[in-house]
Amino acid sequence: MLWTESLTTGVRKIDELHREFFDRLHSLMEDDLCSRGSPEESLDLVEICAMAFFDEEQRLHEAYEYPRAESHKIQHDGYLNAFRRVKGKLISEGLTLANVLAFNRCAVECIKRHILEHDRDFAEYCKMQADL
Ligand SMILES: [Fe+2]
Repeated sequence: MLWTESLTTGVRKIDELHREFFDRLHSLMEDDLCSRGSPEESLDLVEICAMAFFDEEQRLHEAYEYPRAESHKIQHDGYLNAFRRVKGKLISEGLTLANVLAFNRCAVECIKRHILEHDRDFAEYCKMQADL
């Protein structure tokens, strides 16, 4: 899971947060998840990493008094719940192709889509506040 410039929001603080999150997820997935027989520990670390990332972003929403903070948090909670479901299947059924694809869809595609739609909305809001 690599950061690409196409995911830039244009707000340095948000982009740094995202880049750090992607770097951490990438190393967890590359170094741990794929090379261990039991992925439980790595998946716990991914979950902790995602929770910390969302918490940090929600603190920014609060700091900037972002009006769509509540619906944004609901999105974050939905991703965490989806991730926990996939994590449970990976632990109980193992690294089957279906589970790895579900993990990829959940941890990579959903997060990328979230950044491009919802985090960019927050970034645009931040830019408008700066222009006031
Ligand atoms: Fe977000």
